[in-house]
Amino acid sequence: MSNAIPAYKLNRLVPQWLLLAALAISLPLCAAAPTKAPEKEKWWQHAVIYEIYIRSFQDSNGDGIGDLNGISQRLDYLKGLGIDAIWITPFYPSPNADFGYDVSDYTNVSKDYGTLADWDNLVREANKRGIRILVDFVLNHSSDQHPWFQESRKSKDNPKRDWYVWRNGNADGTPPNNWRSIFGGSTWTLDPATNQWYYHIFLAQQPDLNWRNPEVRKAMFDVARFWLKRGAAGFRLDATATMFEDETYPNDPNIDGGPPVHLKSYNSSLPEVNSTLKELHSLLASFPDDRVILAESVTADLKNLAAAYGKNHDEIQLPMNFLIGDMNKLDASAFKKQFDAANLTLGAGNTPVFFFSSHDHTRQWTGFGDGEHNDQIAKLTAALNLAQPGTTLMYYGEEIGMGDMKAQELAAAAISSKRPRADDRDRVRSPMQWEPTATAGFSTATPWLPVQAITAKYNVLEQQRDPQSIYHWYLALNKLRKADAAFNRGEYRAIDTGDKDVFAFARVATTGEGAIVVLNCSAQAKELHLNGLPAKTQFGDVILASPTLAKMESPKLSLEPYGVVINRISIK
Ligand code: GLC
Repeated sequence: MSNAIPAYKLNRLVPQWLLLAALAISLPLCAAAPTKAPEKEKWWQHAVIYEIYIRSFQDSNGDGIGDLNGISQRLDYLKGLGIDAIWITPFYPSPNADFGYDVSDYTNVSKDYGTLADWDNLVREANKRGIRILVDFVLNHSSDQHPWFQESRKSKDNPKRDWYVWRNGNADGTPPNNWRSIFGGSTWTLDPATNQWYYHIFLAQQPDLNWRNPEVRKAMFDVARFWLKRGAAGFRLDATATMFEDETYPNDPNIDGGPPVHLKSYNSSLPEVNSTLKELHSLLASFPDDRVILAESVTADLKNLAAAYGKNHDEIQLPMNFLIGDMNKLDASAFKKQFDAANLTLGAGNTPVFFFSSHDHTRQWTGFGDGEHNDQIAKLTAALNLAQPGTTLMYYGEEIGMGDMKAQELAAAAISSKRPRADDRDRVRSPMQWEPTATAGFSTATPWLPVQAITAKYNVLEQQRDPQSIYHWYLALNKLRKADAAFNRGEYRAIDTGDKDVFAFARVATTGEGAIVVLNCSAQAKELHLNGLPAKTQFGDVILASPTLAKMESPKLSLEPYGVVINRISIK
């Protein structure tokens, strides 16, 4: 495998029509959220979860590759940033066909990333600082180098044959059907040893596990127990929607049309996904301390997303909202429809989960930036993400305005033993920019992927020094989430700004004290008259604004291009 992995998700594979389908929900002006929190609130119902791409966060042993001890060294930084938990991308032994997402041993740590003792130490140190850790659990598939698959491929009657999905091909030598893999090509690979084809929705090196086999279920649930006993606060589940396929494996009569390849009715969100995750949910519930499932639950619409929580909140507690995560342009009307829908119609007791960037997605600074106002836009998307109720994810480096690697930087990045293959997504996986030096404070050796030139300006040291920086903006937003009653637990209110470029919403505590968040998603300065608020609304001080604003001339408001104003209100 060399440059073969296409830009999975970087190109936002979810097409506009899917987004629009979920947007066709009309909401009353200033509608109060119908959601009521369950009686005992859990830590994860209003958390900030920070995603760490382990290979790129901090190297502790001078090999140019990030590791678990590196994360331990940076826990005080994370605590200072105000996050509640970290999700660490896979650190299991892996041949790295898909950088850790091809697991060859589920209960161990790759030599690249440390040892199980390093994991234990990280858990201890994180817990001391009140930080929880989520393990990335790759359920859908293992590596083709996993001993289970090595056994399985040996013969048709091997006891592990049925742990994976094997089928005969057609008489003319073609695969069992015409389905396509997310990474391109057929979902089937012929194994000459037995002349049968095995199924893989991702790479050929990532054969799908057969979750209909009870022994697989048991083995995988034992893996979950292993990490829960070792202190994991829960899991980020990889690719849950594609765990099951239509057992009859029918040919797709419309393979070139219809939904994208990962959202077909024969491979996405089958009912068995729900029953399996319900079982996993109960397993977690048998452990103390509110363990949690965050999941990569890619769905075509809000209805499927709501279903992922389970009818009785007994499946995924935190399914990531890809209808928002896959958005790729600043569009106030689209934001309004999606955020209003996620906050007001997901269903009582379902915690919404917001994110804009990840190891698979373009970074916010680049993805939403217009080339001129990128720093301001980074602040706008941060406010959009962090001022919401529910749980929010942030990807490492967003807080210092890290953008994607430039195309020429990525093209020049060497293939080496530390980087055995290129992946287009590497552009969002460059080393964390701690300081303005050649290795960015990430490592003492040459990093596995080059440090971005932009590190000279965008790095933690520099950003911490400048009170107007993106970093300080994130800090202030995280503080609001924790300490301000409106942002901590306040309900979401939809607001009509009367301007198609300006998105606004309010957060209101039970006392009636609240805040209005107004976001100008355009390069034009705006003069707004906010008519859409209840008559009894009173305006207080500016809580946060960028560019700075001394006072809002309530209910009138001048907004700079891409300006953000968070203002105290009271509705009594
Ligand atoms: C998930 C991961 C992605 C990986 C894929 C296959 O989508 O986020 O990075 O390539 O699963 O495991």
